Amino acid sequence: MQRPSRFLAALFLAASGWSATVLAQPAATPASAPAAAAAPAAAAPAGGIQSANIFEVKPEASADPKYAEQTNGERARVQPGNNAPMWRQVGSGLTGYSSLPKSEAPEAGNLIQPFVQYPGSLLTNAGEAWRQVRNNWLIPYGGALLLIVVGAIALFYFGKGRINLHGAETGRKIERFTPFERSAHWANAIAFCILAISGIVMAFGKFFLLPVMGLTLFGWLTYLLKNMHNFAGPLFAVSLVIVFFTFVRDNMPSRGDIGWLLKGGGLLSGKEVPSHRFNAGEKLVFWGGVFFLGIIVVASGLVLDKLIPGLIYVRDTMQVAHMVHAVATVLMMAMFIGHIYIGTIGMQGAYDGMKTGYVDETWAREHHEYWYDDVKAGKIPAQRSEPASPSQTAQAQGL
Ligand code: HEM
Repeated sequence: MQRPSRFLAALFLAASGWSATVLAQPAATPASAPAAAAAPAAAAPAGGIQSANIFEVKPEASADPKYAEQTNGERARVQPGNNAPMWRQVGSGLTGYSSLPKSEAPEAGNLIQPFVQYPGSLLTNAGEAWRQVRNNWLIPYGGALLLIVVGAIALFYFGKGRINLHGAETGRKIERFTPFERSAHWANAIAFCILAISGIVMAFGKFFLLPVMGLTLFGWLTYLLKNMHNFAGPLFAVSLVIVFFTFVRDNMPSRGDIGWLLKGGGLLSGKEVPSHRFNAGEKLVFWGGVFFLGIIVVASGLVLDKLIPGLIYVRDTMQVAHMVHAVATVLMMAMFIGHIYIGTIGMQGAYDGMKTGYVDETWAREHHEYWYDDVKAGKIPAQRSEPASPSQTAQAQGL
């Protein structure tokens, strides 16, 4: 009695007119010989070639003890059409021959990459290993970190509230950022926001947008954002370099930074620790976020954008670049979410400094006391940029 699946398969093969032509199965001949002899002479196959239902051919080719070691040629002789040995080699990462030039298509001869073990993956072919790292680690833990940071900031905001000025504003202004510094900062910040939003949708959008907007809209949106990401990346890279050189001088470590960090800036006690133009928290964001993570994010991003001249863009290069990029960008976003919070709703007067260029003397004294002292002592000019006209300056200063 045949098993139903076998029977159905045999039925399908017979119906589609496909049955194996058995050339090298002598054992099958005696079993089928009487039937062949009984058949009318007109039905005999031409040229002496006999066909048989492959499920009825005995013994099965797989009964051969050397079956698993057969080459594709040997297998073709006992089981015509069975290419399993070739596919096994392909699956093991073997590189075959391709007539395409290596310089233009370096991986054309290789369908499935060789086995590797990326951090956090099993030992498997590189494409699958990369998929495991992305789906089992980067997406869940990266997403969790971002949610934790947003949650912690929300707790701080609703628990402690905005950092307000303690004293009354004097109406006297100090120039905190020149127009050049602000342009550099905002170019960088705008590029960053485009990258962060598009990156988040590409990585996590299928969990929170796809169920809401459906496949078609989500597909178009992600396609659009992916292209925006590719274009905003180089803009971010250039503006990041400008931001680095613009602000590096005042972000150099100075005496008091360690004390500031140990006391957490005095944020929790409500008594802010004095600092120069930028406090140790800002310096940490500058060196950790802008400089260190900036180099990694930009370098890996330029690889993914295929903008590094002379580099050969093969799959494992892109996989490694992607994993490095994902880790560094998630850490960078976590840092800059804090920066953006303090720069907007988290601290009274901070945003105005970056928007207009000027801060009130009370703000300067309460948040950057040593800087304020230096300005008052005439060591740092209160107005550094060339004012365009007295009325424009007054307007910028909110007078
Ligand atoms: C929407 C996004 C952003 C907002 C609202 C924002 C807001 C601000 C504000 C208000 C300041 C002035 C702080 C002060 O007076 O001490 C500032 C400073 C600064 N921001 Fe941003 N920012 C944003 C994104 C970024 C990004 C993406 C970067 C770099 C990757 C960045 C780098 C800096 C730097 C280097 C400074 C000077 C202070 C320092 O060196 O730490 N900002 N930002």
